[in-house]
Amino acid sequence: MKSSFKKKAIIIGGSKGIGKSISTNLKKAGFAVTSCSRKEVDTSKLYSVNEFIKKNKSADLIVLNSGGPPPKKFKQITIDDWKKYFNQLFLSYFLILKNIDIKRGGYVFYISSSIIKEPGNSIIISSSLRSAMSSLLKSYSLENLKKDITVINIAPGPFKTKRVKELVKDIDKFEKSLPSGKIGNPDEIGKFVRFIAQEKIKYISGSTVYFDGNINKSYI
Ligand SMILES: NC(=O)c1ccc[n+]([C@@H]2O[C@H](COP(=O)([O-])OP(=O)(O)OC[C@H]3O[C@@H](n4cnc5c(N)ncnc54)[C@H](OP(=O)(O)O)[C@@H]3O)[C@@H](O)[C@H]2O)c1
Repeated sequence: MKSSFKKKAIIIGGSKGIGKSISTNLKKAGFAVTSCSRKEVDTSKLYSVNEFIKKNKSADLIVLNSGGPPPKKFKQITIDDWKKYFNQLFLSYFLILKNIDIKRGGYVFYISSSIIKEPGNSIIISSSLRSAMSSLLKSYSLENLKKDITVINIAPGPFKTKRVKELVKDIDKFEKSLPSGKIGNPDEIGKFVRFIAQEKIKYISGSTVYFDGNINKSYI
């Protein structure tokens, strides 16, 4: 692919973990990748998001991703927690989708969490806001059917990244406790995104894809 004809991919939260593996894979597929850390755009800060939008008016593919909130029990959660993570995991993504034009035939991937299917009693901020964002994303998907924009919600279970180290004390013990006995490899998500975009898979649009090694028992 000639560089002047490269399609543009923006990966929010693309400097580490799952986002980084998506960036690496999309580069291999010939995309011109803008891979962001918090230095380029911090989704908890609306001014940072607005500056980013001014510099990035359009893309062929975008990945909505950022860091996860701390695990807190119901009564530990504060109003400030809700405000920060509402900005980080919902409002910023809304502003990005509203203002960055995804070109006809393009792709939007959102990294949520498998916890949206079965909310627990510790990662409550994450499950609540990601459920809301999943609903908003579905509406965006319906709104953009005529533009042939393919929208996929990727809902990961545990993956070997910095994030899982924040949540789990003994990784080996945790891994053995999982149904498959394995924590996920982020490269699998990177390869999945690359395949969908490279092979122009379209009819999957509007779906949530659970990458959770069978942690959720439901088949739907
Ligand atoms: N790994 C898992 O087991 C797992 C499971 C379910 C859901 N998830 C969710 O999936 C997402 C990605 O997880 P990960 O494991 O890849 O996490 P990670 O390894 O911690 O990487 C997070 C990425 O997001 C960026 N980031 C952090 N805070 C941000 C902010 N406020 N604004 C913009 N970017 C921000 C980081 O950039 P910097 O370089 O600036 O730090 C980094 O590139 C997270 O939301 C996580 O909660 C992860």
